[in-house]
Amino acid sequence: MPRILITSALPYINGIKHLGNLAGSMLPSDVFARFHRARGDEVLFICATDEHGTPAELAAAAAGQDVRAYCDEQHALQRTVADAFGLSFDWFGRSSSPQNRELTQHFAAVLEAQGLIEERTDQMVYSLQDKRFLPDRYIEGTCPICAYERARGDQCDNCGSLLDPVRLINPRSTISGSTELEVRDTRHLYLLQSKLQDRVRAFIDAHADWPLLTRSIAYKFLDEGLIDRGITRDLSWGVPVAKDGVARPGFEEKVFYVWFDAPIEYIAATREWAEATGGDWRRWWRNDAGAEDVRYIEVMGKDNVAFHTVSFPVTLLGSEEPWKTVDMLKSFNWLNWYGGKFSTSQRRGVFMDAALELLPPDYWRWYLCAQSPESSDTAFTWEQFQSVVNKDLADVLGNFVNRILKFTDSKFGGVSPSGGEDGPLETKLQETLLAQVGLLTEALEGLELRKAAQALRQAWVLGNEYLQEAAPWTAIKTDPDRAAVIVRTALGLVGLYARLSRPFIPFAAEKIAASVGEGGPLEVWPDAAAVVAALKGPPPGAALSTPDVLFRKVEDTQIAEWGEQFGGA
Ligand code: MF3
Ligand code: ZN
Repeated sequence: MPRILITSALPYINGIKHLGNLAGSMLPSDVFARFHRARGDEVLFICATDEHGTPAELAAAAAGQDVRAYCDEQHALQRTVADAFGLSFDWFGRSSSPQNRELTQHFAAVLEAQGLIEERTDQMVYSLQDKRFLPDRYIEGTCPICAYERARGDQCDNCGSLLDPVRLINPRSTISGSTELEVRDTRHLYLLQSKLQDRVRAFIDAHADWPLLTRSIAYKFLDEGLIDRGITRDLSWGVPVAKDGVARPGFEEKVFYVWFDAPIEYIAATREWAEATGGDWRRWWRNDAGAEDVRYIEVMGKDNVAFHTVSFPVTLLGSEEPWKTVDMLKSFNWLNWYGGKFSTSQRRGVFMDAALELLPPDYWRWYLCAQSPESSDTAFTWEQFQSVVNKDLADVLGNFVNRILKFTDSKFGGVSPSGGEDGPLETKLQETLLAQVGLLTEALEGLELRKAAQALRQAWVLGNEYLQEAAPWTAIKTDPDRAAVIVRTALGLVGLYARLSRPFIPFAAEKIAASVGEGGPLEVWPDAAAVVAALKGPPPGAALSTPDVLFRKVEDTQIAEWGEQFGGA
């Protein structure tokens, strides 16, 4: 049985995530995980909150909370909305876990033993007013590369460049706003990524099947030449720079950099899962324990790619220990909010909790899959959202399901009818549908989300076209056997749609399945033989139930109201 490990980029702990975060990692990885489970593969789907570093400290300070209490609370909130969205993580861990502390310290020790970590004296920005160093997000200024005025110390949100805080133009403290800054010496650990330049290049070269977006970002960094990176920070919240519980001399007040410990949490979260469930984490992560046979898929937004194509591989490969490395790195562009960006810190856009107050999760899931920012950035607009969900979900899928079930109810007493035999229309449907399911399956295997959503939508369209052509409402008047065949076939389609749609819209899929009495088989992804069998429909005599309206249309008045409420253009 194939074994598939899937990790979603870890959402920062600093508040409920917006639709852009959902679209770029958590949702697509969930669709892939659900598909592989339905295929009968053994799947382990891991996510966690990314709890360290300046994002957490700053958000806790803004909330007036102790950082650990803040993280406890936010983790629980993020878990609740993830569940409500149907994100089917096998484990939703926390990078502040003891497992991650231990593993992070372990990697630091073995990397140092391999000569890949050294202590250096560093120049860091110190704030006289705040009486502290200002790492990463504690400092803001103008990006030296693209001139964006709100670049953070570690990364520019506008051009995506990784930055060094001392290079920012017109820097200021984000704690006090003070510009009374000076550059001071401080000791830090450096990961000597430059020494692994050739190893990392060979690693990327060996993955010619990765999406262009992933590879172009990886090669950009390789071509610029890998730089040695500071992996410690002058902060108090994080993994202590210690070994066996003893702080490294001179590092008592420092912690590892959040981007060093965060990807390690993929492994640590698997250990959290193993300890909680009795699972075996080594089978997934250690090549000396069978992980060689695992297919490991990482899913993330493009701003995370550098860390996953360079930094995390340096950690794993440089350790010279037999760790599992990624087999497929699937990256996404950005979902924008109208012309600009979603922003957590500036509360711009729709956030996951607010979204669920407006509409059920499947509306959002479908829109974000169908309009996935896969090959380019895409913009969320209320108008487009309304048009996509109304057309695809209400007019095409929902209408088909309700129409045929209502018809069965009124003409056949809500029971699958008997009589008749397949004719040319059924043969044609079977052929076109088989081809369509083939396309959908291939797209999902290839992690092509938009293509998959398109193929699924097209499969729904085939049902409507079939009903239109076969016209059971006419046949019932002259040829009840013919009407019976059409109804059974269409009911078979309903059951099939439940299975095919489940990775995308799991809540609606369950309702649809229940209406035609499908329970268990919902879990099984149909192969060609199963498609043919499904089209025979429920056995004559099987009782059916008409679901309430599956998808209510989003009204113009709602769009207008939400546009006001959330701001938009
Ligand atoms: N928290 C990061 C972000 O939202 C992603 C971290 S992915 C990790 O950009 F796995 F490396 F942690
Ligand atoms: Zn920039």
